[in-house]
Amino acid sequence: MLTLFVVLLTWSVVAANPASQYVTPGSAEQEITPSSYELNVDEYLRKYGYMNDVNERSVDYAERRTDAIKLFQEFAGLEVTGEVNEEVRELMLKPRCGMKDIVVGRPENARWNVSEITYSLSTYTKDISESDTRAAIAEALTLWEGPSNLKFKKIDSGTAIMELRFVTGKHKRCPYAMDGSGGVLAHAFFPSKHLAAGDIHFDDDETYKYKNGRGLSLVSIALHESGHSLGLGHDNKKGEIMAGWYSGQTTLGPNDIKRIKALYK
Ligand SMILES: *[C@@H]1O[C@H](CO)[C@@H](O)[C@H](O)[C@H]1NC(C)=O
Repeated sequence: MLTLFVVLLTWSVVAANPASQYVTPGSAEQEITPSSYELNVDEYLRKYGYMNDVNERSVDYAERRTDAIKLFQEFAGLEVTGEVNEEVRELMLKPRCGMKDIVVGRPENARWNVSEITYSLSTYTKDISESDTRAAIAEALTLWEGPSNLKFKKIDSGTAIMELRFVTGKHKRCPYAMDGSGGVLAHAFFPSKHLAAGDIHFDDDETYKYKNGRGLSLVSIALHESGHSLGLGHDNKKGEIMAGWYSGQTTLGPNDIKRIKALYK
């Protein structure tokens, strides 16, 4: 899971020309990143696993920061320059999953050892009706059923393996606060013996949609997060639902299918 950063809610201005770090509202997708959203490159590199345990006081700070930027560029399929250029900034400003891209120390093959995965939905978003919210979640989970051979079952009482909630800011029993509109859209917990394992939290400061309307595709985000709940980490390939950045994609990619089959074979 994510390393805890209390500064999650206080992104600060960092470089010399903050204006160029803003996303100009334009395309439908960019509209969801508010223009007040500020990028802190170092914070981003730490938060998503590219630069652990390094700060400005570290002797090899400059070198390790350059390495971290290279790792980010490599992971994201950008030109590897080690510089924070426009391409890097633009991608860092894209709405994304709150989970790390590079995870150190997580058991490689963490998975569920049951064939039926129970889930519950205890809070809803105001953006879509409750029945559409249930439909969107079910649609996403069903897509994983074929390649994983798992079955998902919604339960309304008792403790589900996957507890799905819409939350804002700092939320009950979770150390990872949401960050308002834009930025982090959701996070999820990998399979383990931990009580929170499998759970998914959606940032309700985002605007969600199902099928039509404006906003972010709930099916797409639920599909991505449930991949984490089942044990998949981020993928750096384009066209895969497990890529860390929001694309609106509502299908699994070829590598998603390969990876989930390998995990649940
Ligand atoms: C599944 O089984 C493996 C091997 O016994 C174990 O290490 C792992 O913790 C189990 N997974 C869960 C989520 O309980």
